Amino acid sequence: MRHLAIVTGASSGLGLEIAAQLATKGEYIVVLACRSTEKARAAAETIIAAHPNDQKNLSHEKYMVTDIPCDLENFDSIRAFAAAVCVRFARVDLLVNNAGVVLRPEENIRKESPPPVSHMVAVNYLGPYLLTRLLETRLIEAKGRVVNVTSSGARWYNFAGGDIDRFFQDPSFATEGLTKLMVILHAFELQRRLGCHGVTAVAADPGYVHTNISRHYRGVVSGSFWRRLILRIQLLLWNSGLFISPPQDGATSILHAATVPWNADHDKGALRYYARGLFATRWMTWDQSRLAHQPILQVPLILGFFFPLGIIDWLLRLLSGGKLNSQTRAVAPPSAALDERTAQELWVKSAQLLGLPVDVQLPKEE
Ligand SMILES: NC(=O)c1ccc[n+]([C@@H]2O[C@H](COP(=O)([O-])OP(=O)(O)OC[C@H]3O[C@@H](n4cnc5c(N)ncnc54)[C@H](OP(=O)(O)O)[C@@H]3O)[C@@H](O)[C@H]2O)c1
Repeated sequence: MRHLAIVTGASSGLGLEIAAQLATKGEYIVVLACRSTEKARAAAETIIAAHPNDQKNLSHEKYMVTDIPCDLENFDSIRAFAAAVCVRFARVDLLVNNAGVVLRPEENIRKESPPPVSHMVAVNYLGPYLLTRLLETRLIEAKGRVVNVTSSGARWYNFAGGDIDRFFQDPSFATEGLTKLMVILHAFELQRRLGCHGVTAVAADPGYVHTNISRHYRGVVSGSFWRRLILRIQLLLWNSGLFISPPQDGATSILHAATVPWNADHDKGALRYYARGLFATRWMTWDQSRLAHQPILQVPLILGFFFPLGIIDWLLRLLSGGKLNSQTRAVAPPSAALDERTAQELWVKSAQLLGLPVDVQLPKEE
């Protein structure tokens, strides 16, 4: 029997790659959870065209479900999506919460259905929280796995329970890195609450790869002439895809996190964070949270730190034929993500904001 996998943000970048690899493996029926059915169908066409040898096997109907849209900034859309999945499928074996955006505060306003959180909080954190909650009975039925896609940028943040209201209310506080820390707190709280029902939940960091995410960074080009010049050159290189690894490499850590047998990493404990290559070394996993809450670090961090890291990653790929930079393992998560009390508070506040019961919903006995 084929397993059911749901991949959010499957229309582009990492999500498209993850969906393609799961669909072409033949073990999964993949729901391409995209903002619209047009985007999902286009993604399915792209996957089929890229795998001509599998064309006989792959088909929209059998391997890729494209007719249920899921717009993560619209909570009504998420509810409709989850309801349709639950009607159609008795179990969900894998949920990859991959979709994400990077927005500056002035762009970060949302007009969709309540609660009134910012666009980035909705897409990166609260939407995936809602989706996972609405699918929890199906995940339990399958003893499935949830993979929350995060970013190395989360390591630069710290978070105390008292900040949770501010996170939901203040778009200038809820930066991308902070939403990515929330995603890890969410994965770990899921593991604490659903682990006893056989569900496993992990976080995965794809490293730094060339996708459409860079379209969001145009806004960072500001400041003095020299600063703007350097940022422009970096963005130009980034957008060209030169000297940066392709999404396939980033997808390896997410696919590994999605499919590695739980027992394989039993020595790592129950809270698992997967990273690949350079992003799994001590270079990246030291405790960077003391640099937390320094918005001034945002631009140097993105373009001055991750950009050179991306080039080193690309060089490693070149020298090792993709082997060294793709090796994935469970590594130490950001220290702030291990704070159990904050994770609990975040879970409860998220449930309250969305009008959901705090306790996990169990499948009804047949
Ligand atoms: N690329 C990197 O180096 C990197 C590094 C660390 C973490 N990540 C994380 O990896 C994940 C995937 O990003 P990517 O790099 O593949 O970027 P991408 O190419 O821009 O893909 C982002 C995906 O999210 C979808 N999305 C955005 N808003 C949505 C919404 N409201 N509802 C449903 N889907 C929505 C996009 O759909 P549309 O096409 O409709 O916009 C797209 O499919 C993100 O969570 C990102 O934070 C990426």
